[in-house]
Amino acid sequence: MFDVSERLIPGPGRCRPRLLGGLLTAMALASAGAAADDARRSTAQGVYTTEQAQTGLEVHEEYCAKCHHYSYFQGGFLISWRNQPVSGLYDLIKLKMPEDRPGALKPKEYAALLAYIFELNDLPAGDEKLSHKHEAMEQILIADE
Ligand code: HEC
Repeated sequence: MFDVSERLIPGPGRCRPRLLGGLLTAMALASAGAAADDARRSTAQGVYTTEQAQTGLEVHEEYCAKCHHYSYFQGGFLISWRNQPVSGLYDLIKLKMPEDRPGALKPKEYAALLAYIFELNDLPAGDEKLSHKHEAMEQILIADE
């Protein structure tokens, strides 16, 4: 009876190395996370302007609304894009949409659409427009809230 309980509940001697290992792992992860934050921004940090989102709304009405109600881009639309660069979503939309004329919009119009989609998902606006330049969009990761 006594032997069994000793095996199930580890004594302090066996516990300590594990705890230290976990602590070191946590510290390593925290510093790696900080390094990644330095290089990249997230859509939670105000990466488009309110005017740009307004332009995006107009672009949506002209080119997308006949097939997609704006709510198509809300409520979980961004979940599968979490932590992916904005450039990926840009490329997908440009490659496939509008379905009847893929790639027909100007790069700035596609960027404005992204701004509108971010606004629809309650991501904050900021002082700087979202660039349509690929290198710039690669540095911004999508947060869905
Ligand atoms: C003529 C109708 C039509 C128009 C116009 C249109 N779409 Fe679509 N869109 C569709 C259809 C149908 C699908 C689903 C097919 C698919 O997933 O490939 C779709 C899918 C999508 C997807 C998901 C694609 C994927 O692979 O996950 C996005 C994002 C999208 N549309 C955005 C837009 C935007 C932005 C515009 C305006 C620039 C637009 N669409 C205009 C019909 C349209």
